[in-house]
Amino acid sequence: MNTCTRLHILVTGASSGIGRATALRLADHGQHVYAGVRKLADGAALSTFTSGELTPLLLDVTDAGQITDAAHTIAEHTGDAGLAGLVNNAGIGLVGPLELIPVEEFRRQLEVNLTGQLAVTQALLPMLRRRRGRIVMIGSIGNRFTPPFIGPLATSKSALTTMSTALRQELAPFGIRVTVVEPGSIHSEAVGKLDADVRQVLSLATPEGRALYEDAFRNLVAFFAALHQKGSPPDGVAEAVERALTAARPRTCYLAGKNARRMALVAALLPAAAQDALRRRLARQPAWATMVDQ
Ligand SMILES: NC(=O)c1ccc[n+]([C@@H]2O[C@H](COP(=O)([O-])OP(=O)(O)OC[C@H]3O[C@@H](n4cnc5c(N)ncnc54)[C@H](OP(=O)(O)O)[C@@H]3O)[C@@H](O)[C@H]2O)c1
Repeated sequence: MNTCTRLHILVTGASSGIGRATALRLADHGQHVYAGVRKLADGAALSTFTSGELTPLLLDVTDAGQITDAAHTIAEHTGDAGLAGLVNNAGIGLVGPLELIPVEEFRRQLEVNLTGQLAVTQALLPMLRRRRGRIVMIGSIGNRFTPPFIGPLATSKSALTTMSTALRQELAPFGIRVTVVEPGSIHSEAVGKLDADVRQVLSLATPEGRALYEDAFRNLVAFFAALHQKGSPPDGVAEAVERALTAARPRTCYLAGKNARRMALVAALLPAAAQDALRRRLARQPAWATMVDQ
């Protein structure tokens, strides 16, 4: 029988950035956190930063065996008490011109950021149902304001938001709430991964493909990276996640971090053509129809 009186919450992708800040914040505030990591060493390191209850779990969200094992471990400990929260945070951020992205890379983007979230959710729903627990999805403001060359990442987050809307309605009869947290510009470890990703996309492209997009792609990524270097720390997002998990009446969506509100306003108020012009300027893209012969 489970005698642990803490609330139990699983946070995926807890090795760095937003997931790490969320796991530590929740553990510090008295929850028993299951921290999903892909390397045991990351889990061990994480545990040293809190005196709270934090149990690392090996959990690659694309690995069916690891998802089953993680669900068993949590079920054994929580028993009849069930699971109070699931934070679907794990994610990768593939960028690149959609014409040049290898289709298998695009599939991987959706596999991690979308299908993986559903697979983890399905495995944990029996435990969440027992507790009338809550699900928090980490979306992105890129769902509302999508610049060029962020297509693979933004597509996955738009689909995640739509999936969350369906899930929210399907799970309402069971008293399970589903909230999307949409971060803006956050300075996390993800910024440091951009350079290598850009190099990889360009190295896989043909010389003709590079000629079509390289300058504007590099400009946009440089702008994007600078924006995130000056972004908010991940703790602001962790705070929004905690609110979604603990508020008596959580919202269906929280914006979090620098630029989130501003971008949401631009997306809501500016006509699409004006938004396109603004985004084209950010990427210093060639003007409309100036490359028609290419
Ligand atoms: N940073 C931002 O400005 C921003 C804005 C909007 C939304 N977000 C979203 O916030 C979430 C966290 O991003 P972050 O900025 O904190 O980036 P991050 O520091 O790169 O963290 C990403 C986390 O996801 C994990 N991960 C990657 N692939 C995985 C897989 N297949 N299975 C399980 N875990 C996996 C990583 O683990 P490893 O360390 O093992 O790779 C890492 O723990 C993502 O969903 C991201 O899209 C971030």
